[in-house]
Amino acid sequence: KSIKVFAPATVANVVCGFDILGFAVNEPGDELVMELTDKRGVKIISIEGDEGKLPLDPQKNTVSASVISLLKKLEREDLGINIQLKKKMPMGSGLGSSSASAVAGLFAANELLGQPLSKMELLPFAMEGEALACGHGHADNVAPALFGGFTLIKSYDPLEVIALPVPKLYCALLYPHVDVPTRDARQIIRSKVLLKDAVTQWGNIAGLISSLYTHDYDLLGRCLKDVIVEPIRSILIPEFDFMKAYAMENGALGFGISGSGPTVFSLYKSPDDGQKVITNLQRMLADKGIKSNIYLSEINETGP
Ligand code: HSE
Repeated sequence: KSIKVFAPATVANVVCGFDILGFAVNEPGDELVMELTDKRGVKIISIEGDEGKLPLDPQKNTVSASVISLLKKLEREDLGINIQLKKKMPMGSGLGSSSASAVAGLFAANELLGQPLSKMELLPFAMEGEALACGHGHADNVAPALFGGFTLIKSYDPLEVIALPVPKLYCALLYPHVDVPTRDARQIIRSKVLLKDAVTQWGNIAGLISSLYTHDYDLLGRCLKDVIVEPIRSILIPEFDFMKAYAMENGALGFGISGSGPTVFSLYKSPDDGQKVITNLQRMLADKGIKSNIYLSEINETGP
């Protein structure tokens, strides 16, 4: 018995929702084939598209480690599982690469076993896998990768996730080939915020959530502002201010850092605007000697 699944890349934070908001996109993502075998144990048969960077040791790889803990919980460690992973997305780019792998593995295993757990019940296992890869177990990538759409992490303890409505939107992604490790990107943020900044930020996040329910694109655009994290983190991203200004002048509803970067994202009502902006930005970065990958897609509404 075997199954092939796709798990989407995700944009965490969504500008004003640091650690509590994320959405999934249809492209890029991970593709995984999982097969049940007679030989006890979880094995990674092959990984493509990672330039040999990911560990093949099942205990150390996000995709297999989360499946191992799932099997333990279900008391099915007698099972044999072979995994083939195709990374069709950049790693360490702020697009939730490790979350996509963990979600793909868990979803596939749960399907092969006849869906013993709900997606909500799979979430903690995915967070564990994510923690293994980046040293912290945030849910703002794993939750949208698993459920699709926009998800709000209402609280971490106890874990409470709310699926939000998805208006028709196009997301343009640009991944500049520079190194911004999540760990560093977290360390440079201040741990204290001014009350007046907090007030601005929670006004924006509340407005953003409201705009998703009312499909109010103007409001959505006005709320995609971050006075706490972006001013500091954007220093790590080449040409950030220039790219943002260019996107905003050319049809973007909002522009910001995807997760902890260096990928930047922008949202559009029209796919043509989005395509034009990222194509031109890619060319402009190339002129300055910075290579990049670009993607344009709709919001992924379903997860795997
Ligand atoms: N929200 C995290 C951060 C990234 O911005 O550091 C994804 O978990």
